[in-house]
Amino acid sequence: MSEKLPRHFGPSDSRAEFRTLTLDRRRFLVLLGGATIATTLPPAFAWAAKASDRLPLQPWSLPDTMPGAPHDAVAALVGAAILAPSHWNSQPWRFEHDDGQLRLVLDPARTLPGCDPDLRFAQMSLGAALENLLVAARAWGQQPTVHYLPWGLASRPGAPLVAATVSWQPTDARRDGALFAAIAERRSNARSYEGRGITITQRAALHSQMPEEIRLHWLEDRRGIARAANAVSDAAVAGARDTRIRTDHQAWLRESDGDARRRGDGVTAERLGYDGPFGWFAESSMRPGGHFRRWSLGWLGHETNELVRASGALALITAPRRTDSTAILAGQAYERFALKATALGLAQQPLSAATQTEAGRAGIAKAFGVTNEEPLLLVRLGHARTVPASPRRAVALVTSWHRA
Ligand SMILES: Cc1cc2nc3c(=O)[nH]c(=O)nc-3n(C[C@H](O)[C@H](O)[C@H](O)COP(=O)(O)O)c2cc1C
Repeated sequence: MSEKLPRHFGPSDSRAEFRTLTLDRRRFLVLLGGATIATTLPPAFAWAAKASDRLPLQPWSLPDTMPGAPHDAVAALVGAAILAPSHWNSQPWRFEHDDGQLRLVLDPARTLPGCDPDLRFAQMSLGAALENLLVAARAWGQQPTVHYLPWGLASRPGAPLVAATVSWQPTDARRDGALFAAIAERRSNARSYEGRGITITQRAALHSQMPEEIRLHWLEDRRGIARAANAVSDAAVAGARDTRIRTDHQAWLRESDGDARRRGDGVTAERLGYDGPFGWFAESSMRPGGHFRRWSLGWLGHETNELVRASGALALITAPRRTDSTAILAGQAYERFALKATALGLAQQPLSAATQTEAGRAGIAKAFGVTNEEPLLLVRLGHARTVPASPRRAVALVTSWHRA
Protein backbone atom coordinates (compact mmCIF):
# COMPACT_ATOMS: atom_id res chain seq x y z
CA MET A 1 0.00 0.00 0.00
CA SER A 2 1.41 3.38 -0.73
CA GLU A 3 0.02 6.34 1.03
CA LYS A 4 0.38 10.08 0.98
CA LEU A 5 1.27 11.91 4.14
CA PRO A 6 -0.50 15.19 4.67
CA ARG A 7 1.21 18.41 5.63
CA HIS A 8 2.88 18.34 9.00
CA PHE A 9 2.22 20.74 11.81
CA GLY A 10 5.07 23.22 11.93
CA PRO A 11 6.02 26.61 10.55
CA SER A 12 4.52 27.16 7.13
CA ASP A 13 7.86 27.76 5.41
CA SER A 14 9.29 24.45 6.54
CA ARG A 15 6.30 22.17 6.30
CA ALA A 16 7.14 19.02 4.45
CA GLU A 17 4.94 18.29 1.46
CA PHE A 18 3.62 14.87 0.65
CA ARG A 19 5.82 11.83 0.65
CA THR A 20 5.10 8.45 -0.77
CA LEU A 21 5.25 5.78 1.86
CA THR A 22 5.46 2.08 1.43
CA LEU A 23 4.48 0.71 4.81
CA ASP A 24 2.03 -2.14 4.63
CA ARG A 25 0.67 -2.22 8.15
CA ARG A 26 -1.03 -5.58 7.98
CA ARG A 27 2.08 -7.26 6.61
CA PHE A 28 4.20 -5.45 9.19
CA LEU A 29 1.95 -6.68 12.00
CA VAL A 30 1.84 -10.23 10.69
CA LEU A 31 5.60 -10.35 10.32
CA LEU A 32 6.26 -8.85 13.70
CA GLY A 33 3.50 -10.84 15.30
CA GLY A 34 5.07 -14.05 14.02
CA ALA A 35 8.69 -13.16 14.60
CA THR A 36 8.74 -11.29 17.85
CA ILE A 37 5.71 -12.06 19.96
CA ALA A 38 7.26 -15.31 21.10
CA THR A 39 10.44 -13.57 22.24
CA THR A 40 8.89 -10.52 23.93
CA LEU A 41 5.76 -11.77 25.62
CA PRO A 42 5.73 -13.96 28.69
CA PRO A 43 5.25 -17.56 27.46
CA ALA A 44 1.80 -17.97 29.01
CA PHE A 45 0.58 -14.77 27.40
CA ALA A 46 1.99 -15.69 23.99
CA TRP A 47 0.26 -19.06 24.21
CA ALA A 48 -3.02 -17.45 25.22
CA ALA A 49 -2.77 -14.98 22.34
CA LYS A 50 -2.20 -17.84 19.89
CA ALA A 51 -4.94 -20.01 21.36
CA SER A 52 -7.58 -17.31 21.14
CA ASP A 53 -6.21 -15.82 17.91
CA ARG A 54 -6.52 -12.39 19.49
CA LEU A 55 -4.23 -9.46 19.14
CA PRO A 56 -1.82 -9.45 22.11
CA LEU A 57 -2.56 -6.50 24.41
CA GLN A 58 -0.11 -4.69 26.65
CA PRO A 59 -0.64 -5.19 30.39
CA TRP A 60 -1.16 -2.02 32.46
CA SER A 61 1.78 -2.59 34.77
CA LEU A 62 5.46 -1.64 34.79
CA PRO A 63 8.48 -3.08 36.58
CA ASP A 64 9.89 -1.14 39.55
CA THR A 65 13.38 -1.33 38.12
CA MET A 66 14.78 -1.41 34.62
CA PRO A 67 15.37 -5.01 33.49
CA GLY A 68 19.07 -5.90 33.26
CA ALA A 69 19.13 -7.56 29.83
CA PRO A 70 19.36 -4.89 27.08
CA HIS A 71 16.52 -6.37 25.00
CA ASP A 72 14.24 -6.50 28.05
CA ALA A 73 15.21 -2.95 29.05
CA VAL A 74 14.19 -1.64 25.63
CA ALA A 75 10.93 -3.63 25.74
CA ALA A 76 10.22 -2.15 29.21
CA LEU A 77 10.82 1.42 27.97
CA VAL A 78 8.52 0.85 24.99
CA GLY A 79 6.04 -0.77 27.40
CA ALA A 80 5.92 2.49 29.38
CA ALA A 81 5.67 4.62 26.22
CA ILE A 82 2.64 2.82 24.79
CA LEU A 83 0.51 3.31 27.89
CA ALA A 84 0.34 6.94 26.78
CA PRO A 85 -2.91 8.52 25.57
CA SER A 86 -3.41 8.98 21.84
CA HIS A 87 -5.92 10.71 19.59
CA TRP A 88 -8.89 8.28 19.27
CA ASN A 89 -6.63 5.62 20.82
CA SER A 90 -5.08 5.32 17.36
CA GLN A 91 -1.61 4.61 18.83
CA PRO A 92 0.11 6.13 15.79
CA TRP A 93 3.55 4.93 16.89
CA ARG A 94 6.28 2.49 16.05
CA PHE A 95 9.58 2.00 17.80
CA GLU A 96 12.78 1.00 16.03
CA HIS A 97 15.65 -0.20 18.15
CA ASP A 98 19.00 0.23 16.51
CA ASP A 99 22.30 -0.25 18.29
CA GLY A 100 21.35 1.10 21.72
CA GLN A 101 19.11 3.83 20.34
CA LEU A 102 15.31 3.95 20.07
CA ARG A 103 13.61 5.78 17.20
CA LEU A 104 10.04 6.91 17.75
CA VAL A 105 8.35 6.79 14.38
CA LEU A 106 4.93 7.87 13.12
CA ASP A 107 2.81 5.01 11.77
CA PRO A 108 1.17 6.66 8.75
CA ALA A 109 -1.52 3.96 8.59
CA ARG A 110 -2.75 5.16 11.99
CA THR A 111 -3.36 8.82 11.32
CA LEU A 112 -6.77 10.50 10.93
CA PRO A 113 -6.62 12.69 7.81
CA GLY A 114 -10.10 14.17 8.28
CA CYS A 115 -9.77 15.19 11.94
CA ASP A 116 -6.05 15.79 11.89
CA PRO A 117 -4.98 17.00 8.44
CA ASP A 118 -1.69 18.53 9.61
CA LEU A 119 -0.91 15.62 11.99
CA ARG A 120 -0.81 17.83 15.07
CA PHE A 121 -2.76 15.31 17.19
CA ALA A 122 -0.72 12.39 15.86
CA GLN A 123 2.46 14.24 16.80
CA MET A 124 1.02 15.12 20.22
CA SER A 125 0.28 11.41 20.72
CA LEU A 126 3.91 10.60 19.84
CA GLY A 127 5.00 13.33 22.28
CA ALA A 128 2.89 11.75 25.04
CA ALA A 129 4.50 8.35 24.35
CA LEU A 130 7.95 9.97 24.35
CA GLU A 131 7.28 11.59 27.72
CA ASN A 132 6.22 8.28 29.28
CA LEU A 133 9.43 6.72 27.98
CA LEU A 134 11.55 9.54 29.44
CA VAL A 135 9.73 9.47 32.79
CA ALA A 136 10.27 5.70 33.04
CA ALA A 137 13.96 6.01 32.07
CA ARG A 138 14.54 8.70 34.75
CA ALA A 139 12.63 6.75 37.39
CA TRP A 140 14.82 3.74 36.58
CA GLY A 141 18.00 5.77 37.19
CA GLN A 142 18.83 6.57 33.56
CA GLN A 143 19.79 9.88 31.98
CA PRO A 144 17.99 9.97 28.62
CA THR A 145 19.13 12.06 25.65
CA VAL A 146 16.57 13.10 23.03
CA HIS A 147 17.06 14.34 19.48
CA TYR A 148 13.87 15.75 18.03
CA LEU A 149 13.00 15.25 14.38
CA PRO A 150 16.48 14.02 13.37
CA TRP A 151 15.44 14.18 9.69
CA GLY A 152 13.34 17.32 10.22
CA LEU A 153 9.69 17.27 9.24
CA ALA A 154 10.62 15.63 5.96
CA SER A 155 10.45 11.87 6.29
CA ARG A 156 13.56 9.76 5.89
CA PRO A 157 13.89 8.57 2.33
CA GLY A 158 11.33 5.78 1.90
CA ALA A 159 10.22 5.82 5.54
CA PRO A 160 7.81 7.77 7.74
CA LEU A 161 8.40 10.71 10.06
CA VAL A 162 10.87 10.10 12.88
CA ALA A 163 9.65 12.18 15.83
CA ALA A 164 12.70 11.59 18.03
CA THR A 165 15.62 9.35 18.80
CA VAL A 166 16.33 8.46 22.42
CA SER A 167 19.43 6.99 24.04
CA TRP A 168 20.19 6.59 27.76
CA GLN A 169 23.03 6.25 30.24
CA PRO A 170 22.87 5.02 33.84
CA THR A 171 23.17 7.69 36.58
CA ASP A 172 23.05 7.64 40.38
CA ALA A 173 19.86 9.71 40.54
CA ARG A 174 16.31 8.40 40.21
CA ARG A 175 13.87 11.11 39.20
CA ASP A 176 10.21 11.55 38.27
CA GLY A 177 9.13 8.77 40.68
CA ALA A 178 5.65 10.20 41.35
CA LEU A 179 4.93 10.69 37.64
CA PHE A 180 6.22 7.19 36.92
CA ALA A 181 3.83 5.71 39.49
CA ALA A 182 0.97 7.48 37.68
CA ILE A 183 1.72 6.03 34.20
CA ALA A 184 -0.32 2.85 34.74
CA GLU A 185 -3.06 4.69 36.69
CA ARG A 186 -3.67 7.55 34.23
CA ARG A 187 -6.95 7.46 32.28
CA SER A 188 -8.80 9.83 29.99
CA ASN A 189 -11.95 10.13 32.04
CA ALA A 190 -15.11 10.96 30.07
CA ARG A 191 -17.51 10.72 33.03
CA SER A 192 -19.49 13.73 34.16
CA TYR A 193 -17.41 15.59 36.78
CA GLU A 194 -18.72 16.86 40.10
CA GLY A 195 -18.04 20.52 39.28
CA ARG A 196 -15.94 20.83 42.48
CA GLY A 197 -13.01 23.20 41.96
CA ILE A 198 -9.28 22.56 41.78
CA THR A 199 -7.17 23.94 44.63
CA ILE A 200 -4.52 26.60 44.08
CA THR A 201 -1.81 24.14 45.09
CA GLN A 202 -3.05 21.57 42.57
CA ARG A 203 -3.22 24.23 39.88
CA ALA A 204 0.35 25.34 40.61
CA ALA A 205 1.57 21.73 40.47
CA LEU A 206 -0.07 21.30 37.05
CA HIS A 207 1.38 24.58 35.75
CA SER A 208 4.85 23.52 36.84
CA GLN A 209 4.79 20.63 34.34
CA MET A 210 4.88 22.98 31.34
CA PRO A 211 8.20 23.45 29.54
CA GLU A 212 9.37 26.89 28.42
CA GLU A 213 7.98 26.58 24.87
CA ILE A 214 4.43 25.70 25.99
CA ARG A 215 1.83 27.71 27.96
CA LEU A 216 -1.14 26.65 30.03
CA HIS A 217 -4.24 28.86 30.32
CA TRP A 218 -6.81 28.28 32.98
CA LEU A 219 -10.58 28.86 33.33
CA GLU A 220 -12.43 28.10 36.53
CA ASP A 221 -15.18 30.69 36.91
CA ARG A 222 -18.63 29.40 35.92
CA ARG A 223 -19.23 32.04 33.26
CA GLY A 224 -15.86 31.42 31.62
CA ILE A 225 -16.43 27.66 31.65
CA ALA A 226 -19.91 28.13 30.14
CA ARG A 227 -18.42 30.29 27.37
CA ALA A 228 -15.83 27.63 26.59
CA ALA A 229 -18.53 24.90 26.74
CA ASN A 230 -20.42 26.73 23.98
CA ALA A 231 -17.26 26.95 21.87
CA VAL A 232 -16.51 23.22 22.34
CA SER A 233 -20.06 22.07 21.58
CA ASP A 234 -20.20 24.27 18.46
CA ALA A 235 -16.91 22.73 17.32
CA ALA A 236 -18.12 19.17 18.05
CA VAL A 237 -21.30 19.72 16.00
CA ALA A 238 -19.34 21.34 13.15
CA GLY A 239 -17.04 18.28 13.16
CA ALA A 240 -19.96 15.86 13.02
CA ARG A 241 -21.35 17.75 10.00
CA ASP A 242 -18.03 17.42 8.14
CA THR A 243 -17.92 14.29 5.98
CA ARG A 244 -14.14 13.85 6.20
CA ILE A 245 -14.14 14.15 9.98
CA ARG A 246 -17.12 11.78 10.25
CA THR A 247 -15.28 9.23 8.10
CA ASP A 248 -12.46 9.20 10.68
CA HIS A 249 -14.96 8.88 13.53
CA GLN A 250 -16.51 5.91 11.79
CA ALA A 251 -13.11 4.26 11.34
CA TRP A 252 -12.06 4.58 14.99
CA LEU A 253 -15.40 4.39 16.83
CA ARG A 254 -15.80 0.92 18.37
CA GLU A 255 -19.10 -0.88 19.02
CA SER A 256 -18.15 -1.99 22.54
CA ASP A 257 -15.18 -2.43 24.88
CA GLY A 258 -14.94 -6.01 23.57
CA ASP A 259 -14.66 -4.72 20.00
CA ALA A 260 -11.93 -2.26 21.05
CA ARG A 261 -10.02 -5.04 22.85
CA ARG A 262 -10.30 -7.38 19.84
CA ARG A 263 -8.79 -4.71 17.59
CA GLY A 264 -6.46 -3.36 20.28
CA ASP A 265 -7.34 0.27 19.55
CA GLY A 266 -10.15 2.80 18.96
CA VAL A 267 -12.70 4.33 21.29
CA THR A 268 -16.31 3.55 22.24
CA ALA A 269 -18.90 6.34 22.41
CA GLU A 270 -19.12 5.73 26.16
CA ARG A 271 -15.41 6.39 26.53
CA LEU A 272 -15.93 9.71 24.77
CA GLY A 273 -18.61 10.66 27.29
CA TYR A 274 -21.67 9.74 25.23
CA ASP A 275 -23.70 7.09 27.02
CA GLY A 276 -27.27 6.74 28.28
CA PRO A 277 -30.32 7.58 26.13
CA PHE A 278 -29.14 11.06 25.08
CA GLY A 279 -25.63 9.78 24.49
CA TRP A 280 -27.07 7.21 22.11
CA PHE A 281 -28.37 10.03 19.91
CA ALA A 282 -25.10 11.92 20.29
CA GLU A 283 -23.23 8.80 19.18
CA SER A 284 -25.45 8.34 16.14
CA SER A 285 -24.37 11.80 14.93
CA MET A 286 -20.89 10.34 14.44
CA ARG A 287 -22.17 7.50 12.29
CA PRO A 288 -23.08 8.06 8.65
CA GLY A 289 -26.65 7.93 7.36
CA GLY A 290 -28.40 7.86 10.76
CA HIS A 291 -32.18 8.22 10.66
CA PHE A 292 -32.16 10.80 13.44
CA ARG A 293 -29.39 12.93 12.05
CA ARG A 294 -30.78 16.37 12.87
CA TRP A 295 -31.75 15.31 16.38
CA SER A 296 -28.44 13.56 16.83
CA LEU A 297 -26.46 16.69 16.12
CA GLY A 298 -28.60 18.58 18.63
CA TRP A 299 -27.91 15.97 21.31
CA LEU A 300 -24.21 15.85 20.50
CA GLY A 301 -24.05 19.61 21.11
CA HIS A 302 -26.16 19.32 24.25
CA GLU A 303 -24.20 16.42 25.76
CA THR A 304 -20.84 18.01 24.97
CA ASN A 305 -21.97 21.28 26.50
CA GLU A 306 -23.15 19.54 29.70
CA LEU A 307 -19.89 17.59 30.06
CA VAL A 308 -17.74 20.69 29.72
CA ARG A 309 -19.94 22.83 32.01
CA ALA A 310 -19.58 20.27 34.82
CA SER A 311 -15.77 20.67 34.82
CA GLY A 312 -13.97 21.87 37.94
CA ALA A 313 -11.61 23.80 35.62
CA LEU A 314 -10.54 23.92 31.98
CA ALA A 315 -6.94 24.07 30.85
CA LEU A 316 -5.86 25.16 27.38
CA ILE A 317 -2.39 24.15 26.20
CA THR A 318 -1.00 26.69 23.71
CA ALA A 319 2.26 27.63 22.00
CA PRO A 320 3.26 31.28 21.72
CA ARG A 321 5.59 30.41 18.84
CA ARG A 322 5.34 27.54 16.40
CA THR A 323 8.43 25.51 15.56
CA ASP A 324 8.78 22.11 13.89
CA SER A 325 8.70 20.28 17.21
CA THR A 326 5.87 22.29 18.85
CA ALA A 327 3.25 19.54 18.58
CA ILE A 328 5.62 16.89 19.99
CA LEU A 329 6.54 19.19 22.90
CA ALA A 330 2.85 19.91 23.49
CA GLY A 331 2.17 16.16 23.64
CA GLN A 332 4.96 15.78 26.20
CA ALA A 333 3.59 18.70 28.21
CA TYR A 334 0.06 17.29 28.08
CA GLU A 335 1.26 13.88 29.29
CA ARG A 336 3.15 15.40 32.25
CA PHE A 337 0.00 17.38 33.04
CA ALA A 338 -2.14 14.21 32.84
CA LEU A 339 0.28 12.21 35.00
CA LYS A 340 0.43 14.99 37.58
CA ALA A 341 -3.37 15.25 37.61
CA THR A 342 -3.53 11.48 38.18
CA ALA A 343 -1.01 11.74 41.04
CA LEU A 344 -3.19 14.51 42.57
CA GLY A 345 -6.32 12.35 42.31
CA LEU A 346 -7.90 14.52 39.60
CA ALA A 347 -9.85 13.30 36.58
CA GLN A 348 -8.99 14.78 33.18
CA GLN A 349 -10.10 14.43 29.56
CA PRO A 350 -8.64 16.09 26.47
CA LEU A 351 -11.19 17.54 24.04
CA SER A 352 -9.62 17.74 20.60
CA ALA A 353 -12.81 18.96 18.86
CA ALA A 354 -12.03 22.40 20.31
CA THR A 355 -8.70 22.71 18.47
CA GLN A 356 -9.11 20.54 15.36
CA THR A 357 -10.09 23.32 12.92
CA GLU A 358 -9.16 26.98 12.47
CA ALA A 359 -12.71 27.98 13.45
CA GLY A 360 -12.55 25.81 16.59
CA ARG A 361 -9.18 27.26 17.60
CA ALA A 362 -10.47 30.81 17.10
CA GLY A 363 -13.55 30.01 19.22
CA ILE A 364 -11.67 28.46 22.13
CA ALA A 365 -8.95 31.15 22.07
CA LYS A 366 -11.69 33.78 22.37
CA ALA A 367 -13.37 31.93 25.26
CA PHE A 368 -10.02 31.91 27.11
CA GLY A 369 -9.13 35.48 26.08
CA VAL A 370 -5.91 34.22 24.46
CA THR A 371 -4.37 36.15 21.58
CA ASN A 372 -1.32 35.54 19.39
CA GLU A 373 -0.86 31.98 20.60
CA GLU A 374 -1.68 28.70 18.89
CA PRO A 375 -4.33 26.76 20.89
CA LEU A 376 -3.21 23.12 20.82
CA LEU A 377 -5.26 21.03 23.25
CA LEU A 378 -8.13 21.72 25.62
CA VAL A 379 -8.39 19.56 28.75
CA ARG A 380 -11.25 19.43 31.23
CA LEU A 381 -10.43 18.69 34.83
CA GLY A 382 -12.43 17.68 37.86
CA HIS A 383 -13.43 14.96 40.25
CA ALA A 384 -14.99 11.67 39.16
CA ARG A 385 -14.79 7.94 39.73
CA THR A 386 -12.02 6.39 37.67
CA VAL A 387 -12.64 4.43 34.46
CA PRO A 388 -11.19 1.11 33.30
CA ALA A 389 -7.97 1.03 31.26
CA SER A 390 -8.27 1.08 27.47
CA PRO A 391 -6.53 -1.47 25.21
CA ARG A 392 -3.01 -1.09 23.83
CA ARG A 393 -1.37 -3.17 21.13
CA ALA A 394 1.50 -5.03 22.79
CA VAL A 395 5.17 -4.01 22.60
CA ALA A 396 5.95 -6.81 20.14
CA LEU A 397 3.48 -5.42 17.62
CA VAL A 398 4.97 -1.94 17.56
CA THR A 399 8.70 -2.56 17.94
CA SER A 400 11.29 -3.62 15.40
CA TRP A 401 14.81 -4.66 16.31
CA HIS A 402 17.62 -3.85 13.92
CA ARG A 403 20.63 -4.83 16.01
CA ALA A 404 20.15 -6.20 19.50
C1 LIG B 1 -3.91 14.54 21.13
C2 LIG B 1 -5.03 13.82 21.84
C3 LIG B 1 -6.35 14.21 21.61
C4 LIG B 1 -7.40 13.57 22.28
N1 LIG B 1 -8.69 13.98 22.08
C5 LIG B 1 -9.69 13.42 22.78
C6 LIG B 1 -11.05 13.87 22.66
O1 LIG B 1 -11.35 14.78 21.90
N2 LIG B 1 -12.01 13.27 23.42
C7 LIG B 1 -11.71 12.25 24.29
O2 LIG B 1 -12.61 11.74 24.96
N3 LIG B 1 -10.44 11.80 24.41
C8 LIG B 1 -9.45 12.35 23.69
N4 LIG B 1 -8.16 11.91 23.83
C9 LIG B 1 -7.92 10.79 24.74
C10 LIG B 1 -7.94 9.47 23.96
O3 LIG B 1 -9.25 9.17 23.53
C11 LIG B 1 -7.42 8.39 24.90
O4 LIG B 1 -6.08 8.69 25.18
C12 LIG B 1 -7.48 7.00 24.31
O5 LIG B 1 -8.80 6.62 24.09
C13 LIG B 1 -6.85 6.00 25.28
O6 LIG B 1 -7.46 6.03 26.52
P1 LIG B 1 -6.67 6.42 27.85
O7 LIG B 1 -6.16 7.81 27.69
O8 LIG B 1 -7.69 6.30 28.95
O9 LIG B 1 -5.54 5.46 28.00
C14 LIG B 1 -7.11 12.51 23.17
C15 LIG B 1 -5.77 12.15 23.40
C16 LIG B 1 -4.75 12.79 22.75
C17 LIG B 1 -3.33 12.39 23.02
